[in-house]
Amino acid sequence: MAQEKKDIDWGSLTFAYQPTDYSYVCNWKDGEWDEGGLTADHTVTLSECAGILHYCQECFEGLKAYTTDDGSIVCFRPDLNAKRMHDSAERLVMPPFPEDKFVDAVKQVVAANAAWVPPYGSGATLYVRPMMFATGEVIGVAPASAYQFRILVTPVGPYFKGGVKPITIRVSPYDRAAPHGTGNIKAGLNYAMSLFAGEEAHALGYAENLYLDSQSRTYVEETGGANVLFVDENGTLVVPQSATDSILPSITRRSLVQVAEGLGMTVEERPVMWAEVLEGRFTECGLCGTAAVISPVGKIVDGDDTVTFPAGETEIGPVMSKLRNTLTDMQAGTIPAPEGWVV
Ligand code: COI
Repeated sequence: MAQEKKDIDWGSLTFAYQPTDYSYVCNWKDGEWDEGGLTADHTVTLSECAGILHYCQECFEGLKAYTTDDGSIVCFRPDLNAKRMHDSAERLVMPPFPEDKFVDAVKQVVAANAAWVPPYGSGATLYVRPMMFATGEVIGVAPASAYQFRILVTPVGPYFKGGVKPITIRVSPYDRAAPHGTGNIKAGLNYAMSLFAGEEAHALGYAENLYLDSQSRTYVEETGGANVLFVDENGTLVVPQSATDSILPSITRRSLVQVAEGLGMTVEERPVMWAEVLEGRFTECGLCGTAAVISPVGKIVDGDDTVTFPAGETEIGPVMSKLRNTLTDMQAGTIPAPEGWVV
């Protein structure tokens, strides 16, 4: 029987944490993961010498659960989160969490918190945050010998204040990721790198930072919390690629490329020079990710220069809007999605 929904004003939720009924927890030691299961305890007790506290051995994921128009609860491509977390763990010398166990854990924790999954049409979703961190004690710089995998879920509204209203961002004077470093995995340390720049940007009135490649500061990479997309004057979707492996492979971005192709659009995945953006080659810009979905960007400020996106400056542009609606309709079950996307 369906669980009765929590008494929440779903429409006024922001992107903030609130504890729900259950989390999922599983521990690794002596070379294996334990059985794992649900817990109502939302705290973590650690040794003061746990590896996470010293050398940042941690990675995480983000996906969402949605209520579809027929009342079912679904997740979007959790297998890709499982795979990406596997890659992040390997890069951080952590034992990968088995991908099938990951998907099963997501299903368990979402089902157990069904009452917290916002209703269809509310504009809110249940954000699912898998994470993995070193619990084993280390004092010299080395990988730990014990880890915890955990999933918390929390109902959320839009990532940016104002929802789908175009935001203004700035080109960051600071760097996010080194060439061939960890920019292409979902390590907490990448986000720690963005905090100072993020606070400074907010204090100056910008919603986000756009990072350029740190080697040459020539190419557009991504923002602190989302990938970036452009639309050119021919209606082509232009997706920045990194020559130095420093952009996170967003699942939303990869899905949108397929969605755009399915809509008959031309898609170019290639390095994008900041100079092209400055020249005014693009008519629309958006940030994409699980949390951001597609959030339109109206302006980017770089010192004394301001780039505006004429088709999306005051409201979301036609291409970003079409992509956003198609993706969210797939997630809500009102139009068919490719096989395996909606689980
Ligand atoms: C997500 O989009 O799920 C992320 O993990 C980004 C995070 C900065 C909110």
